[in-house]
Amino acid sequence: MDLISIFDLTPAELEGLVERGEALKRKRKGGVKASHELEGRTLALIFEKPSTRTRVSFEVAMHELGGNVISLNWNELQLGRGERVRETARVLSSYVDAVMIRAYRHDTVEEFASYASIPVINGLTDLEHPCQTLADLMTIKEYKRTVAGVTVAWLGDGNNVCNSLIGGAAITGMKMRVACPKGYEPDGRIVERAKRMGGEVLITENAEEAAGDADVLYTDVWVSMGDEEERDKRKRDLKNYQLNEDLVTVAKEDALIMHCMPVHIGEEITEGVLNSENSVIFEQAENRLHAQKALLLKLLEK
Ligand code: CP
Ligand code: NVA
Repeated sequence: MDLISIFDLTPAELEGLVERGEALKRKRKGGVKASHELEGRTLALIFEKPSTRTRVSFEVAMHELGGNVISLNWNELQLGRGERVRETARVLSSYVDAVMIRAYRHDTVEEFASYASIPVINGLTDLEHPCQTLADLMTIKEYKRTVAGVTVAWLGDGNNVCNSLIGGAAITGMKMRVACPKGYEPDGRIVERAKRMGGEVLITENAEEAAGDADVLYTDVWVSMGDEEERDKRKRDLKNYQLNEDLVTVAKEDALIMHCMPVHIGEEITEGVLNSENSVIFEQAENRLHAQKALLLKLLEK
């Protein structure tokens, strides 16, 4: 099994991963870090773009589960000199037990998975970031006790993180409202698929409309990796979608503040909101570790 898109998971599988992540978190908080479930198993991480959380949380997860991990930069591999993805996938399948790839193009990860004979995990592409959604659902459940029926307002760029969250919301019964300017909407096929599954997805240009009475306010960078050439235009177009002290007042009083990180203070979020009482941003980052351990166990445990 692979995790390329959040839609690869059934409701039961997604719920199972969140529950196992919660159990692993409790165990670790109780002082038990090391275990042996993945002894003798090796995960390769391939990065075509930078990463802090994804890289470190996957590395620590493998170590703590007793397995091995190899982190590789695209340009250090022959991939950087033009070796094709498909041959790389076939070769790595004979060495390691699973591969996580962070790539610019979603079809790079799809191609890798179609030629690999081992599980492949999407560690972020231009279209999706399903591992982030696992941690996000775990975080929302931790604070709201449930995800079904919770209203999440997404503010700003309808990007990869937003796309996977829309899918995760549809699978779990969470309601999504996306506030973004024209041209920054989430992927149309993902929104359609979510709606076909019965998911509630509202897309609006009005940040207050999305945030009004919401249970969660979520934002992400205005300039994703790969969008750097459009930096100035994006900052202009998205300036009315900042998650700031004014916008927080229209949401529920106990609305969670979420962000997948890295943050760009003064752009998509203010320092005050980042560090406010309702901010769960650092728990969200921590939950990457627990949720990915659950995923690795699902994909690799014998
Ligand atoms: N949220 C996230 O994936 O962070 P990194 O880019 O640091 O991995
Ligand atoms: N949308 C951001 C998320 C980073 C984790 C990006 O793709 O750069």
